Amino acid sequence: MSHIAFGIDIGGSGIKGAPVDLRKGKFAADRVRIPTPEVSTPDAIGAVLAELVGSFKLPKRSPLGVAFPAPIDHGVVRSIANLDKSWAGVDLAALTREATGHPTVVLNDADAAGLAEQRYGAARGRHRVVLLVTLGTGIGSALLVDGALAPNTELGHLQIDGADAELRAADSAREREGLDMAAWAGRLQRYFETVEALLSPEVIVVGGGISKKHAEFLPLLNLRAKIVPAKLRNAAGIVGAAAATAIREAG
Ligand code: BGC
Repeated sequence: MSHIAFGIDIGGSGIKGAPVDLRKGKFAADRVRIPTPEVSTPDAIGAVLAELVGSFKLPKRSPLGVAFPAPIDHGVVRSIANLDKSWAGVDLAALTREATGHPTVVLNDADAAGLAEQRYGAARGRHRVVLLVTLGTGIGSALLVDGALAPNTELGHLQIDGADAELRAADSAREREGLDMAAWAGRLQRYFETVEALLSPEVIVVGGGISKKHAEFLPLLNLRAKIVPAKLRNAAGIVGAAAATAIREAG
């Protein structure tokens, strides 16, 4: 098998893809980014996937991994928080195969980031329970136990103090409400201590775009777990999606 696989990360603002060298966990060519259509329906995103993949000269039948911001059961989107509501129940694996002609594996975006950090980044090594949390438009979570991923944990939607956790503690909440870092860190403290009480992770890896400013908020948190910034940053979704093709056969 080739050590190159193509990874795609579908997000609320951009759809990004690149071939990934799975031996290194690095892009094998420059990433291409296409803005997410304002009306982010399956048809509209399918057209972007065709354009994105078509802009690379991929060998026929080479596998694609797709990271998507929703829980995914056997390629199907279970429910959707931050893209067009018509995604619920759509078979994204079949849609991608039809749009691009390539065999496809689909997984949750945070699960993809978790795989990438475990293989190539901040979650490497021997830990019993590792939790990766992405802070962005929503909150994504990936739970790794003895190196195995328990998919679709969806810990961004925990109900905490009567509210969906991501509405209070995601990076989008910080922006929307104009919170300073100290105020936002207070929200994160409440979030992480709740998650910690449930799962007792040894290590919490924090990803998402804001993780590049980790020095401004991670030191404000007081937790039992070791809490560290993600290493792959924005590449984690693409790299993890590509890595997933080597774990699960792309059909
Ligand atoms: C979704 C998750 C996703 C997270 C980050 C949440 O709203 O329910 O599936 O991982 O956002 O994109």
